[in-house]
Amino acid sequence: MKFDRDVGRLQRLMAASIAGINRRQAILETLTINSGDRIIDVGCGAGQLLGHLAKAVGDDGEVIGLDPSADQLAKARTNCGDSGNVTLLERGADDTGLTQNSCDAATSTQALEYISDVDAALTEITRILKPGSSFVNVSILWDHFRFHGAEAKLNDEIHDAFRAHCSHQMLPMELPGKLRRLGFNHIRDRSLAFVITHRDQNSPALYTENVMANFAISRGISEKDVASWRSQLANAEKDGRFGFASFPVLTTAYLSR
Ligand SMILES: C[S@@+](CC[C@H](N)C(=O)[O-])C[C@H]1O[C@@H](n2cnc3c(N)ncnc32)[C@H](O)[C@@H]1O
Repeated sequence: MKFDRDVGRLQRLMAASIAGINRRQAILETLTINSGDRIIDVGCGAGQLLGHLAKAVGDDGEVIGLDPSADQLAKARTNCGDSGNVTLLERGADDTGLTQNSCDAATSTQALEYISDVDAALTEITRILKPGSSFVNVSILWDHFRFHGAEAKLNDEIHDAFRAHCSHQMLPMELPGKLRRLGFNHIRDRSLAFVITHRDQNSPALYTENVMANFAISRGISEKDVASWRSQLANAEKDGRFGFASFPVLTTAYLSR
């Protein structure tokens, strides 16, 4: 899935919602950050995390936001306008262009699961990290990502279509082995799962519903069926039987010294 135009706009709204805030808070609590560090955010999107990292590393440090989407980076440039220690790189995770052992920490939020050759991306992240560095990733267990409240068959159809939106549905389950093989240790997982039972204007549920609806249409599901799915969810909310559950996992690992 490309994060340009409408998808990018909805993704940024989602990142600005309470779900995005909670993830950033969990990352900032977990990532080892020292003043003067050089930290990379892989797949930084509109850069909501970059400003916090920039303050944490201070003027002697550097924060690198890497993303292949020019649209996302344009927003990141606006968001980080007054941080002089942020560098934005319009590149893919498998080819950062950075020198070996040049970063003190790396983080990534809901980006690695979209990269088909995720092993190449992880190898590159490992290459640019110094020995002993921390790596914190947040990815979603997409098999456990679910709307509730619409008629079961139609609901399944929309969710099945959405599976094609990303390459790795269950990356957090595979990440520990991949990281261990690359030389990381002290690998820990933490659930950031959440449930929402309303879909108000700033709800991540509503933004996600929009993304899924557009994606389902692009995969050949009729506009009529998609509209029906959405109105069933709206009715379920009115009746107090609507739900949206997502299961992000925060994985922490340290590169061996
Ligand atoms: C769901 S968004 C997450 C953005 C941001 N990390 C956040 O939490 O708001 C996924 C991001 O991954 C980026 N992305 C896609 N392919 C990538 C790749 N090969 N390398 C790095 N980032 C990639 C997309 O452009 C998009 O900005």
